[in-house]
Amino acid sequence: MAPDLETGAAVQGAGPGGAAATVLVLNGPNLSRLGTREPEIYGTATLADVAATCADAGDALGLAVDVRQTDDEAELIAWIHQAADGRLPVVLNPAAFTHYSYALRDALAMRTAPLVEVHLSNPAARETFRHNSVVAGVADGTVAGFGLLSYVLALRAVAALLARRA
Ligand code: DQA
Repeated sequence: MAPDLETGAAVQGAGPGGAAATVLVLNGPNLSRLGTREPEIYGTATLADVAATCADAGDALGLAVDVRQTDDEAELIAWIHQAADGRLPVVLNPAAFTHYSYALRDALAMRTAPLVEVHLSNPAARETFRHNSVVAGVADGTVAGFGLLSYVLALRAVAALLARRA
């Protein structure tokens, strides 16, 4: 059983019936192209590498992870509704939706469990249009700029938030 990083409390058993809590790791548009998409910005890791890294981090933290990607705003919002209904924590890389999707923000505002925004790059150090996140204000926090490590740190934050709530 993995100890929570902040409190030392175990997070395993946070889910119904003593099962490991499931975290949805949701990825928005163009993130299926990781590996070949602007590698000087996003690195050479693929979405499969993101999924494997999240699975390993989840194992260490006692969390089950369900990694998904879509280019479709409606599908992403449907997954957010599913998380809200199921009280599932979410790690979300909203990709470009970060900067303009009020529909996504409104869906996230209905959340019932921890939400951590994540970015591979550091949007604050890039073009001006990337400096604003419409998601940040409804998230518990944001991890940005660390490549794959951003996802690991976000999962650690979710584990800490779940332990705090338990
Ligand atoms: C991103 C940053 C966004 O600005 C961009 O639109 C993406 C990826 C990141 O992970 O660094 O698609 O979310």
